[in-house]
Amino acid sequence: MSLIIAVDGPAASGKGTIAARLAQTYGLPHLDTGLLYRAVGVKLLEAGGSLDDEAAATQVARSLDAADVSEDPRLTTGEAGEAASRVAGHPGVRAALLDLQQAFAAQAGGAVLDGRDIGTVIAPDAPAKLFVTATPRVRADRRWKQLTARGFDIGFDDMLADIQRRDERDAGRGAAPMVQAEDAVLLDTTDMGIEAAFDAARRIVEAARVKHGL
Ligand code: CDP
Ligand code: CDP
Repeated sequence: MSLIIAVDGPAASGKGTIAARLAQTYGLPHLDTGLLYRAVGVKLLEAGGSLDDEAAATQVARSLDAADVSEDPRLTTGEAGEAASRVAGHPGVRAALLDLQQAFAAQAGGAVLDGRDIGTVIAPDAPAKLFVTATPRVRADRRWKQLTARGFDIGFDDMLADIQRRDERDAGRGAAPMVQAEDAVLLDTTDMGIEAAFDAARRIVEAARVKHGL
C-alpha cells in the first residue's frame, strides 16, 4: 500500500492549502481535482456551450489535458467555481475525469488529491482520509478575503450566498455527492488558522501511517 492522502471538503474549507502543504511535507505529488471541473466549465463557456448540456460538457472533459489544469487565473474566479459545480453534476463528466484522477492516485510512492469525492469514489482504499470543513460564514469570509485581495469586487453577502448554493448543489447531486467517507477523519477548522489546521492534518496523516505501517 502507498501513502495516498485524500482531502475532501466544501468550498474554502482550506483543503487545497492543507493538501499542498501535506504534499510538500511528504514529498508527494498533489492534484487539486477542483481545477479539472473548473477547466471543463470555463472551456465549455468559452466555446459558447451550455453548462446544462451533458454531452458537450463530457466532450470537453474527455479532451482535457494537463496544460488545462495549470495555475490559470481564469480558473480561480467565482464564476469558474459556479460553472465547475454545474458541470460536476453530470455523470458523463465525472466518468470522463475518473481515469486521469485514479492514475494520479496510483503513482508509486503515493499522492495527495483534494476535492469532493476522493475518499469515496476516486481512492476509496486510501489509507489517509480527511474531511476538512468550517462553518459557511467562516468559509465565505476566507474566500471573500482571497478574491478581494486579487481585485475582485464582490460583497460578503453575495459570497456567502454563492458558497451556500454551491454546498447544497454539491451535497445534493446524485453523482458522487460531497459526503464525508465513513473512514475519513473530520477536521473542523472553524476556529483554526491555517497553521493550526495544517498541524492537525499532519497528526491525522501520522496516525494513519502508523496504523497502516507506511
Ligand atoms: O476551491 P473550492 O472548494 O471553492 O472549489 P474546487 O475544489 O475548485 O471545486 C469546484 C467545484 O468542482 C466544486 O464545487 C464541485 O462541484 C466540483 N468538484 C467535484 O465535484 N469533485 C471534485 N473532486 C472536485 C471538485
Ligand atoms: O481549497 P479550498 O477551497 O478548500 O480552500 P483554500 O483555497 O485552501 O483556502 C481558502 C483560503 O482560506 C486561503 O486563503 C487560506 O489561506 C485560508 N484559510 C485560513 O485562513 N484558515 C484556515 N484554517 C484554512 C484556510
